[in-house]
Amino acid sequence: MNCVITGSVAFDYLMTFPGYFRDYILTEQLDRLSLSFLVDTLTVQRGGNAANIAFSMALLGEHPHLMATVGEDFVEFRAWLEKNGVDTSLTRVIPGVHTATFFANTDRANSQIASFYPGAMAYAAQLSFHELNGEKPELVTISPNDPGAMQRYARECRELGISYLYDPSQQIVRLDAGVVREGMEGATAFFVNDYELSLVQKTTGMARADILEHVKLLVVTCGENGSLIYTDNDEIHIPIVPALRIVDPTGVGDAFRGGFLVGYGHGWSLETCGQMGALAATYCLENSGPQGQAYKPEEFARRFRQHFDDCGKLDALCEPTGHMG
Ligand SMILES: Nc1ncnc2c1ncn2[C@@H]1O[C@H](COP(=O)(O)OP(=O)(O)OP(=O)(O)O)[C@@H](O)[C@H]1O
Ligand SMILES: [Mg+2]
Repeated sequence: MNCVITGSVAFDYLMTFPGYFRDYILTEQLDRLSLSFLVDTLTVQRGGNAANIAFSMALLGEHPHLMATVGEDFVEFRAWLEKNGVDTSLTRVIPGVHTATFFANTDRANSQIASFYPGAMAYAAQLSFHELNGEKPELVTISPNDPGAMQRYARECRELGISYLYDPSQQIVRLDAGVVREGMEGATAFFVNDYELSLVQKTTGMARADILEHVKLLVVTCGENGSLIYTDNDEIHIPIVPALRIVDPTGVGDAFRGGFLVGYGHGWSLETCGQMGALAATYCLENSGPQGQAYKPEEFARRFRQHFDDCGKLDALCEPTGHMG
């Protein structure tokens, strides 16, 4: 399957402060708040929802197309994605601008002070599905991105008759309820976590049954409780794959989507797709950063079979001809 993955591409600057922010916030002097925290650690990670999803797909042998706007500082990030099998030819560099960057400082109580600089992501609405050369994509994913771009891509997919997976997650709060509704109503699949589903239901006033009147597939991830896949006549619960160690939950939702989509591209049952998502998420959880996991399709298939039955289907991941990109 020819898949185009849209959404954010970002660098994450993660810092840790060996104290408590609350000890330094003087409530009686909030009008002159001025704080600088000397941090202990800084790690810079490659992230962004679209890059993470594409990365997880590529680990399973696919070559998805990443479509996004990035900055001039994207050179090494691009090389990394390409080396791992992601096609970045639809990724446009915006001159003189940085790639989107997330700065987060976390203290000992896990309180976080963060800023997100959209940088090149603010130009994402410049990209258009009408301008794509070559074959029409069989599936597009629309993940958190510049709000105007998300709206544009969804509308263009509908105009062009391209099936899309709508995944607004963190951007739900920035999109008008009408826009979320429009994006969802035209989608083939809608992916959210359980909290986001409640939020969408509250803002759009739609019940689960209303959502299922529009989308073929509703996938709700529920953290350590696994995930639920709904179609208009079925409801499948997918358990988690227990982690050998929990290192960093950042990007689990994206890894789940990546694993799921690989199964979906092969036309496998929704149950198998969900189980692949669950295992891809667990690998992410066991490593630092949203793109810190590394495994070969063979290893993935072996571990999958310790928990689930694929009736041998996953062998196709291990054959070079099994690629869908
Ligand atoms: N503690 C855990 N152990 C094993 N698997 C987990 C755990 N937490 C999450 N997962 C897997 O990851 C999937 C997605 O998790 P979750 O619902 O937390 O996504 P999310 O809230 O979108 O995460 P994020 O946006 O932070 O990446 C779950 O459905 C599950 O399969
Ligand atoms: Mg998420």
